[in-house]
Amino acid sequence: AALGLSASLLLLVDSLTFLWVDTFTAYPFHGTFQLFLTSLVFLAAYDPFAAEVRRLTNRVFNRRGQALSETLDHLNAELPGLLSTDALVERVLGGLHASGRVSSASLYLWDPRLEVFRRAGYRGGGDAPPAVLAALPFSAGFAAGAEPYQRHELVRRGRTDQHASEVAEILGAMGAELAVPVRSGSHVLGWLALRDEDWAEGYSADEIGRLSTLADRCRLVLTNAREISALEQRRRLAAMGEMAAGLAHEIRNPLAGLKGAAQYLQTEEVSPDAREMLQVIVDEANRLDVVVRSFLDYARPLDVSRARGSVNAVVGHALGLLRAQGPRPDIHVVEALDPGLPTVLLDSAGIGQVVINLLQNAVQAMPRGGTVGVTTRQREGWAEIAVSDTGPGLTAEAMSRLFVPFYTTKAGGTGLGLAISRRLVDAHGGELQVSSDPGRGATFVVRLPASPAPAG
Ligand SMILES: Nc1ncnc2c1ncn2[C@@H]1O[C@H](COP(=O)(O)OP(=O)(O)OP(=O)(O)O)[C@@H](O)[C@H]1O
Ligand SMILES: [Mg+2]
Repeated sequence: AALGLSASLLLLVDSLTFLWVDTFTAYPFHGTFQLFLTSLVFLAAYDPFAAEVRRLTNRVFNRRGQALSETLDHLNAELPGLLSTDALVERVLGGLHASGRVSSASLYLWDPRLEVFRRAGYRGGGDAPPAVLAALPFSAGFAAGAEPYQRHELVRRGRTDQHASEVAEILGAMGAELAVPVRSGSHVLGWLALRDEDWAEGYSADEIGRLSTLADRCRLVLTNAREISALEQRRRLAAMGEMAAGLAHEIRNPLAGLKGAAQYLQTEEVSPDAREMLQVIVDEANRLDVVVRSFLDYARPLDVSRARGSVNAVVGHALGLLRAQGPRPDIHVVEALDPGLPTVLLDSAGIGQVVINLLQNAVQAMPRGGTVGVTTRQREGWAEIAVSDTGPGLTAEAMSRLFVPFYTTKAGGTGLGLAISRRLVDAHGGELQVSSDPGRGATFVVRLPASPAPAG
């Protein structure tokens, strides 16, 4: 219909022009007068027409604006109930596109693994915009809290501003006139990119404001979706943990049988070689039993019973146990316990276990001797226990895997010491932190909430 209309308009203008030209050639007036008259007639004919066109367009676009506004109302009400990214993409992009005020819409989401914005969805005609957007310079302006990007404005600013022109170019490639950030704090989680092909001016300030509100709702859905998938992951892990614990139990009985049989044979008349082999079986069975038992310890639900107690007393007890394990003259222990430390709610046996694990690790990290520092102090609502050593410190690899169960670099280690320690500290609402100065040593800090519990 639009085509037909414009075609007939063109024909009309064409024939009018011919009519005028014919008339004027037949009755040759002065050239300037001819021009003047023509312009007058055109103005008279054209201006009301233009006004009419403007009125019509406004009506059409107001109607679309109205439809957009209704869509946004609808989406704002619906979004809090969505639980997955796919549903979000479907509803938001589908809804905006269907409103008629958005001829193409895409949603880009930050992919932390690849460190790019990835297109999560697109609605509109023609070719889909690029699948991936490199972060810079696209996100650069945002940490500073800039406004949503509008292409026509960036193009204007781009004449003097290099950054603006680069961003405008990317928006062009995205086929977007407007890009609204989905922000979480100073992070940009994604971009909602829109265009209305029939409206070069893009979107009104009011519309941009409302689209920003929509982007904020999108943030909620995205963070909820992430939490839900983390929860599912935890559930899966918990189920696997239960299975593994069952398996560990099943291993212990036959293991005891093997060991018993080997020990029985040792009492028989056997060659010295065979006796040695039997001893290997017994030793290995013992080693496996320690691993399985530690695993079961780790897998068992923690049972911490907290009571008001003294952190310094727990630390003193652990140091006593360390000394009892056999003195190492090459290890120097430096204690600095804050006598003013208030009592805290703690499971003495559990925290004692944590401190012993840390002390053992510190000593084991210094085969050629060194200094173990043990400090307690109160800081910002926490009671802190710091255990430091002057060993080699931690490699980047160790740093990232320290608390992973079974991560060990020691021949006789189980790799559960720190994993169990972290669980125990977590159960106290506390934190177990590590810092390391490669080549100079490592420091582990246990922080327990000093009562009353700190805010946050
Ligand atoms: N103070 C430290 N300095 C250097 N490396 C350390 C230190 N503490 C821990 N590590 C590293 O972290 C790994 C894991 O420690 P964790 O206490 O969990 O297990 P483990 O000591 O190897 O075994 P287990 O505690 O069961 O005897 C260690 O094998 C070691 O590589
Ligand atoms: Mg250890």
